[in-house]
Amino acid sequence: MSNPDSRQLVLDLLRKQGKISGKQLGEAAGISRSAVWKHIGRLKEQGYNIVSTPGEGYKLLSSPDRLLPSELLPELNTRVLGREVFYYQELSSTQEKAVELAKQGYPEGTLIIAEKQVSGKGRLGRNWESHPGSVCVSLIFRPNMRPEDILHFPLATGIAAARTIRNLTGYYPGLKWPNDILLSGRKLGGILTELAAEPDKLHYLVIGIGININTPKPCFSEQIQSTATSLVTEYGQEFSRLGFLQVLLREMEAIHSQYQEYGFTSIREDWKALNVTLGRKVTIQDRDKVIQGTAQDINLQGGLVVNTNSGEYLTVTSGDVADQF
Ligand code: BTN
Repeated sequence: MSNPDSRQLVLDLLRKQGKISGKQLGEAAGISRSAVWKHIGRLKEQGYNIVSTPGEGYKLLSSPDRLLPSELLPELNTRVLGREVFYYQELSSTQEKAVELAKQGYPEGTLIIAEKQVSGKGRLGRNWESHPGSVCVSLIFRPNMRPEDILHFPLATGIAAARTIRNLTGYYPGLKWPNDILLSGRKLGGILTELAAEPDKLHYLVIGIGININTPKPCFSEQIQSTATSLVTEYGQEFSRLGFLQVLLREMEAIHSQYQEYGFTSIREDWKALNVTLGRKVTIQDRDKVIQGTAQDINLQGGLVVNTNSGEYLTVTSGDVADQF
């Protein structure tokens, strides 16, 4: 019988050893030669380039550019995030799946990964284009917080995403309130937050993150050609999606535990240092309301404080922010 745990063991052995025979693999993993053979076949199907030379054994030449748990987990140094992983080659939306799993009681940190989303969800009921080379994931959280503080989550996640991008490229992107990640004024990624709560109790919260890493510009639809970007477009080189996800999970865990322990004030200045919204003259479209003014600050709930053109101060908690022309 070939089970995924012994497959992971076979893969780990292939990674560690330059060359290893089927017999040695079987002995070290405690499985039969035919089970080894089946595992090798399955790994090749997943995109691992493994060669076998008669009399010498197996050799791993390269691993696939996929966010497989077998690739993600060995180097993942988080305590909670990504400890339970659901991986899909294709899915309608990781967000929908995460909500379904959260309702079934899956724990904080459960991670849903899709290489391809067929109906990716964006904010405000929009569609999210998920193209090859992007990272599309959702995570379940069960934080001890008041539902009205919900905005803290996308803001904290934005900081984690910005730090991750800086770790990969050497440069920080800008954060546009409340959930956009920008490079050169174009959208590199977005964050989607959904929750289930009673008036004073939060049951679960699902955070979805979509980032364009190695997505070539021509992949974007005509509607977003001029407003979307990717790391490969900006830097002219590809980056490891796997490395991105590993660092992202670590940074998210760090910022969320800081938030849980010290509260929003401890991360508010970090968000402000990365933001590209404050100080600008903006137009905010919030459902059927349009507000115009200067984005002044974010308040203790993460809302955007706007000094309107008529001199009045308003706090906005949702909507789309655009520059005022
Ligand atoms: C936005 O900027 O509108 C938010 C985009 C969020 C997209 C991500 S991709 C992973 C997760 N699954 C989805 O269906 N949406 C989020």
